[in-house]
Amino acid sequence: MRVLKAVCLWLSLWGACGWCDTPPQGAVASAHRLATQAGLWTMAKGGNAFDAAVAVGGALAVVEPSGSGLGGGGFYLLHRAADGRDVFLDARETAPGAASADMYLDAAGEPRPGASRDGPLAAGIPGVPAALVHLAGRYGRLPLGVSLEPAIELAREGFVISGRFRRLLGFRLEVLRRSPAASAVFLVEGALPPVGYRLRQPELAATLQRLAERGHYGFYGGETAQRLVAGVRAAGGIWTLADLAGYRVQERAPVRFRFGPWTITSAPPPSAGGIALAQALDLLGRHKRRLRDDVTRVHLVTEALRRVYRDRALYLGDPDFVSIPRAELLGRPHLDHLARSIDAGKATPSAELPDAPPLGTGGDNTTHFSILDRDGNRVAATLSINFPYGSGFMAPGTGVVLNNEMDDFATGPGQPNAYGLVGGSPNAIAPGKRMLSSMTPTFLDDGQRVAILGTPGGSRIVSMVLLGLLELTGGGGAHAAVYAPRYHHQYLPDRLQYEPGALADDELAALRGLGHTLEAHGRRYGDMQVVVWDRRDGTVRGASDPRGEGLADAW
Ligand code: DON
Repeated sequence: MRVLKAVCLWLSLWGACGWCDTPPQGAVASAHRLATQAGLWTMAKGGNAFDAAVAVGGALAVVEPSGSGLGGGGFYLLHRAADGRDVFLDARETAPGAASADMYLDAAGEPRPGASRDGPLAAGIPGVPAALVHLAGRYGRLPLGVSLEPAIELAREGFVISGRFRRLLGFRLEVLRRSPAASAVFLVEGALPPVGYRLRQPELAATLQRLAERGHYGFYGGETAQRLVAGVRAAGGIWTLADLAGYRVQERAPVRFRFGPWTITSAPPPSAGGIALAQALDLLGRHKRRLRDDVTRVHLVTEALRRVYRDRALYLGDPDFVSIPRAELLGRPHLDHLARSIDAGKATPSAELPDAPPLGTGGDNTTHFSILDRDGNRVAATLSINFPYGSGFMAPGTGVVLNNEMDDFATGPGQPNAYGLVGGSPNAIAPGKRMLSSMTPTFLDDGQRVAILGTPGGSRIVSMVLLGLLELTGGGGAHAAVYAPRYHHQYLPDRLQYEPGALADDELAALRGLGHTLEAHGRRYGDMQVVVWDRRDGTVRGASDPRGEGLADAW
């Protein structure tokens, strides 16, 4: 048996062993205990990782409605063990057909306060329901209706809300109060419900049931679509039945690159994440020895982030609408150019970055889960409605909270989005277009260990995943990745932000000495979910971010 194992390991290092390349257990890490349990339940019923992804995503729509749901979108990075295929399932929201580049500006060209953030005008056409149907139909083993059972039951029977749930409701209280349907579901006589309150969502249960029974049409057509469009339009939104009927998920080729012995597979546009990770790790790989010193490491990671976030602002958007110079952004000349501008002994102010060469033509909300099944199938999924409780709007009779993902577009020239990200014409609003995202579901594989990871956190998602990858490639496990202290830079504003306690006083002083403008972030951020399968000793370990209330468990 030992000899067989050694041969298996040796063959799998060369990618030559398919038949014995299976983990001893399946595992799910998600942002909520009840969602993790829903995923494990499908595995016990004979479902695979893709069925579990339907169950987890469906359950999160019910028990973590602040972060994701049927009214939102997301990205699913899939690995199918049977043929080794990696696919990026893009279920990002699209701009409605009546959207326009200046729809959030007033006559003077100034942004109308809240217009891209609050209420149904802020909502893109949702992608998650289409993704659930696609995952079950194309990749799953169980019928959609079976995988959605836990979600439907949780919506119908209710669950007990936590302190975190209440805090996030409080964050969007004023906006939720403006939506009578949302207030009726989430508030008690217009006020926050107490911790321990049992929240039942019968209308959401019925909407999920229609999706379970009728598939794509059960959400994008018929009764649900009519209620959504009527509700949105009555409250000042611009959705049409044709927008819903026309929504499609897209399967895209992931970004894949090498970092030392590791193969990293991550999110392509309309996510900014995969390209940013590939660029940042290339730049950092040039300084491997220097990374061992703590201060130099923070400095170099910051300098890499500053540069890759500028490329994001200049070049990235929906690949179906703008031509993205992907090969050039990841090519040697461009990366050499970026690398040459990094000074290992001094911060480069963002305003003084050398001109970008012309290329080509062209917390708590949101949620992530990571799944591995016993066949070796993998899912890394990051789903979002953007702000906690998205736009705060619920169309009457649907139980569905709508996203405010339209704010992720560049809503006006030089106009930063809610995360302070700036963008240009590649990310301008256009009908049917997908808004650029930071969501970065990612796989890591060196033949010995496989890691599945991701996190919510707005513009900080990419830096968090980068720091997680540095932990994992440095030999750390799932726990090291989720516990690692976090810091962040995004080109503009030109500040190195850090979590409370992430950097010691002497490190802060040294970084200041290197010319960085430091900014303490008020609280710890992110909710990373990681599963690691170590082929060498046949272990599967998951870890859920200590900053959240999630659970990693195995089946
Ligand atoms: O797609 C994006 O980049 C954002 N809408 C994600 C929002 C998010 O992660 C909020 N979390 N704190």
